[in-house]
Amino acid sequence: MLMNNEGSFEKFQRIDFEVLDIEQLIDFDVFVKTSATEKEPYIKYYDKNRSDQKDKLLGLLNSQQIQTDLYIQSIDLKNYYEHASQSMREYLSNPKVEITQKFQKVYALANNLTKSFFEDKASPNILRSSPQVIELLKSCLENEELIDKGLQKLVSKDYRTYTHSINVGLYCMAYGIKSGFPSDKVSELGLGGMLHDVGQIKIDDNITKKPDRLSEDEFGVIKKHTQYGKSILEKLECFDETILEIVEQHHENCDGSGYPEGMKGDQISSFAKICAIADIYDTLISYRTYGKQEEPFDAFNLIKEENKNQFDKDIFVNFVRLMGPDT
Ligand SMILES: [Fe+2]
Repeated sequence: MLMNNEGSFEKFQRIDFEVLDIEQLIDFDVFVKTSATEKEPYIKYYDKNRSDQKDKLLGLLNSQQIQTDLYIQSIDLKNYYEHASQSMREYLSNPKVEITQKFQKVYALANNLTKSFFEDKASPNILRSSPQVIELLKSCLENEELIDKGLQKLVSKDYRTYTHSINVGLYCMAYGIKSGFPSDKVSELGLGGMLHDVGQIKIDDNITKKPDRLSEDEFGVIKKHTQYGKSILEKLECFDETILEIVEQHHENCDGSGYPEGMKGDQISSFAKICAIADIYDTLISYRTYGKQEEPFDAFNLIKEENKNQFDKDIFVNFVRLMGPDT
């Protein structure tokens, strides 16, 4: 394996070959896996410095039954997501493709990004690609038909931190679009939603993936994820204060019962309040290890009955009203 700049061995990540567009710059080496048991299981199939190898890659991509998984080095993930976003922009502009099909493809790309971060433990640098992915998702949602027909029908209910992150970003953006927020604010909401739980990466999997209810001590550890998240994003120096506030305050409650600061009402950013509702909504309607999966209508009723003082009343009422006739 290769040594990266941080002095550790470079990891390899599987990529979605469908987003590779040979017409555009492919600024990363592409590998194939030979055998998991060999010492050097990955061999370079495409060298970014050799444009004459594009035909070889094109041949592989065009072969109808592509059997081989393709990999890149983790260090190239940012270049890969830049390439994928560009390729996806072209795809989204194709009037012949249906909006739900476009959405599913962008949704898969977005999930791959958060999966690389949460499951494959890629460097936080990969989060620098989040704005591009959010712009792609936003351009799908701007076709409001997707929201009006019930966004929850299109997203994964398989509750994992990485899918939940994308779902919360989508619900936040849907709220912003339906409320008529300016486009840049919709993007900030989407990014805050998508990144709200990044701090969980610093918490032991034994706690974040524990199937049973958490002990008080474990919950105390979990509570730190809001500040961890803010600090991860601050270090990347590419996210606005509004986004950091969403991440830091998404567990603050209007009645002061939340964390980390126990803020109340107007002290909490309105975008963090939107994220908090999107967060609990997606949690309730997804399959979880404990607790039952709720239908959207029941989820709203449950929030109203059990958590009504936690959430901003006006935002909650708008959220229920705007999320489509089928919710
Ligand atoms: Fe959270």
